[in-house]
Amino acid sequence: MTEALERHAENWDLRHVDFNDNDFLYDVYAVMRDNGAFARTEEPFLSPDPDGAWVAVRYAECVQILQDWEHFSSNPTPEGAERLTGDLVITLDPPRQQKFRKVLNPYFSPARMKALRPEIAAETDRLIDDFIESGAGDLAEVAWRQPGIVFFKYLLGMPVEDVPLCVELTDTALNGTTEQDRMAAWGGLYQHLHDAVTARLDQPPRDDMIDVLLAAEIDGEKLAFADVVSNAMLLVQAGLETTASAMSFAYHYLATHPAERDRLIEDPELLPRAVEEFIRFAGSIHGIPRTVAKDVEVSGCPFRPGEQVIVNYASANRDERQFPDADRCVLDRRDNRHLGFGAGVHRCLGSNLARLEFQLGLERVLARMPDFTLAPDRTAKFHGNSVTRGFRSVPVVFTASDRSR
Ligand code: HEM
Repeated sequence: MTEALERHAENWDLRHVDFNDNDFLYDVYAVMRDNGAFARTEEPFLSPDPDGAWVAVRYAECVQILQDWEHFSSNPTPEGAERLTGDLVITLDPPRQQKFRKVLNPYFSPARMKALRPEIAAETDRLIDDFIESGAGDLAEVAWRQPGIVFFKYLLGMPVEDVPLCVELTDTALNGTTEQDRMAAWGGLYQHLHDAVTARLDQPPRDDMIDVLLAAEIDGEKLAFADVVSNAMLLVQAGLETTASAMSFAYHYLATHPAERDRLIEDPELLPRAVEEFIRFAGSIHGIPRTVAKDVEVSGCPFRPGEQVIVNYASANRDERQFPDADRCVLDRRDNRHLGFGAGVHRCLGSNLARLEFQLGLERVLARMPDFTLAPDRTAKFHGNSVTRGFRSVPVVFTASDRSR
């Protein structure tokens, strides 16, 4: 084992520049899992803490923690009087968190998703049209634009023109180089959404998520305006960069594995399983924190109130104890109970939407440019030392074809 592997395994810092090499990061995870069920980080991302944090790296313990919200709270200050984050679904615990989900859930129902299928296919086709006649293009453009267009136009109710700015602000907020850059971007995103929601107050209601949040009553009370804005911001943050990064990885994988690309073209029925496997194999979220609310022991390790535990979904998803041949991307993998969308009460609210966007993103590209491969004269760009991880550029060449009608 190299010294660098050992050093990173002892103090995992997801923002470290070495992790621009994605395979190296997964090698570090393998060492962390071999060392034990819990590793350490002195640099907890998302929720900085001078005391550092534990990192759950094996599948079984990650599932146990995700299902035990009474000991492992999503609220960063479960015992404290001070509420740092307001009423935000992802940092609440049941029962209030479940009531929030009930408000938002209908927007992600299977029936609603099914009805969106033609719209998502058409939006993806329009993005492919931008370069289909030239025989060369950048698939990262499709991956980064499609989820935002779909979400803003058909669910959230924000102008599509705002997508590029919101993607940029979310990206800097999560992945910016300094804490100062990240905080400034959070502020910018909050202000933008604050203005957008304020503008809606004078308009007639529409059937979208902003209106649902504005009208929602939980425990007989309407949400505070700041909480409407914060939850809208969470949805933007949770729904755009995650799906885009995961999809960009799949495009790169298929552009560099032509036999696998051809297999999906010959057997499109495989697509749903392939999407699950891409999310297991290269999921874009590597960890979300929990805070210990009461003394508890997991696999012989004691945890004390106030300690932070980051659940590392990506490492759990490569755990050989759960997934045979875990380091291989097996597009027709069965029994794929991956943690890419989390588990337990906070399981991803948008997973049905993400799956559909992802599937149609692949389906339309495979149908319209079936021989796409990585452009020989250009390099793909992977952004790795960051909280969400994916390709920023996937330049491809293919046989030129006609625009969609
Ligand atoms: C491939 C894409 C996606 C991935 C990998 C992903 C992953 C996750 C994960 C791991 C969690 C659990 C967080 C936790 O345990 O605390 C989560 C929660 C959540 N996701 Fe996603 N997500 C994706 C797409 C989306 C989309 C498209 C939306 C909405 C537009 C969305 C909205 C949410 C929300 C609101 C939560 C919080 C739910 C709660 O706290 O009850 N996600 N997501």
